[in-house]
Amino acid sequence: MSISDWHPASWKTKPLRQWMEYPDPEALEREVAHLASFPPLVTSGEIEELHAQLRAAEEGRYFVLQGGDCSETFEACHSDIITRKVKILLLMSYILIYGLDKRVIRIGRIAGQYAKPRSSNTETRNGITLPSYRGPMINRPDFTLEARTPDPVNLRRAYSCAAMTMNFLRSLIDGGLGDMHHPEYWELDFVNLAEQSREYRQIFQAIESSIRFMEVIAGRIDGQAQTKFFCSHEGLHLPYEMAHTRQVPRRHGYYNLTTHMPWIGDRTRGIDGAHIEYFRGIANPIGMKVGPSMQPDELIELTKILNPNNIKGRLCLIHRFGASKIAECLPPLAEAIRLARRNVLWISDPMHGNTQTTADGIKTRSFDDILSELCQSFIILEQEGTHLGGIHVELTGENVTECMGGARGLTADDLHRDYQSDVDPRLNYEQAMEMALLLATRQASRRR
Ligand code: PEP
Ligand code: CO
Repeated sequence: MSISDWHPASWKTKPLRQWMEYPDPEALEREVAHLASFPPLVTSGEIEELHAQLRAAEEGRYFVLQGGDCSETFEACHSDIITRKVKILLLMSYILIYGLDKRVIRIGRIAGQYAKPRSSNTETRNGITLPSYRGPMINRPDFTLEARTPDPVNLRRAYSCAAMTMNFLRSLIDGGLGDMHHPEYWELDFVNLAEQSREYRQIFQAIESSIRFMEVIAGRIDGQAQTKFFCSHEGLHLPYEMAHTRQVPRRHGYYNLTTHMPWIGDRTRGIDGAHIEYFRGIANPIGMKVGPSMQPDELIELTKILNPNNIKGRLCLIHRFGASKIAECLPPLAEAIRLARRNVLWISDPMHGNTQTTADGIKTRSFDDILSELCQSFIILEQEGTHLGGIHVELTGENVTECMGGARGLTADDLHRDYQSDVDPRLNYEQAMEMALLLATRQASRRR
């Protein structure tokens, strides 16, 4: 397999997993051609900057915070919702910088996270079976045949919402949302309810006094100039990804210019498949989800296909086993990577292996399972002679009730109150802040 055989459409010769046939394939082709005529959403310069930071993360100097919705919706392409999502990621990043003593690379699951893999192709309700909902880029969640039939016009809607989100998010960051001088905007009521409230307050005080100390030495810290924010989404719908895969002047290779770091899902990482074929040829840094079925030999082969020159910062392995399986699944894979001397960045996704269904049939996750998988990831990877390079979480800045636990002790009964996700349950604002605080306190005390 050589790169000279690759081109942005070479995936079309391979089996395409998680695909839903369009009733009018020519309409899809017309839509993709139309998309390709629009300007791209990101630049190759930004992508290369992220690549350099991920390389530094492999060397232990940076830590990745990747987070956002399981699935963005077109309705949530809204100023308040975007602002709160960016804000929670920024606040978590400051807490992690303090606790881990490293710079943090912020990567949203945002501005393109509109297509979803599903465990079943169909859904049955009251004896009626329809195609599954696959994210707003493809179809709609209402339970009618019309809504569930893929419509190519959704690609253009997805692209427009991604562009509006990206545009607003760039303005928020440039306009100083990352400015750390306004502690009142941190919304910390929940801290009083937490068992560790004293430790949490100490963290906030320490962050504030570090800023003051630095300002005495160096003058006012310009939050704006310091803050960088990158975007990512699952590269599931290959015609959408292909539409903006292109060469740029004065650089080698093809870039996917819809996002900085696309990733391959756990259900589409088959070695022979279309997704691996597409991803091996793009120049962006990429992620690959690694679930419990991954075998060590298979993982090594995939790393060779996706990163034949073993370039640092090119490949993030986003592992997601579940709190009860990680101790069994991760060590053999980490050992294989070490023995084969493959350069990768390990990122823990503590969400997708910890999904459970309540007695009332609601999909949820427990805060304690999520925390447990994260804490085990740090320890196991150190024991394997490497380190955890980041975390990948599903979260929202809203106060939804989708995951159980956290300082407010949400239970299965609370899930009925404000459950908004069409797909997977997310940490809410308070749960996400607390997760960052707990990681910060634990890692800071492990270093002492
Ligand atoms: C996701 O990240 O929303 C997802 C579907 O993950 P995975 O591919 O790990 O199941
Ligand atoms: Co998800």
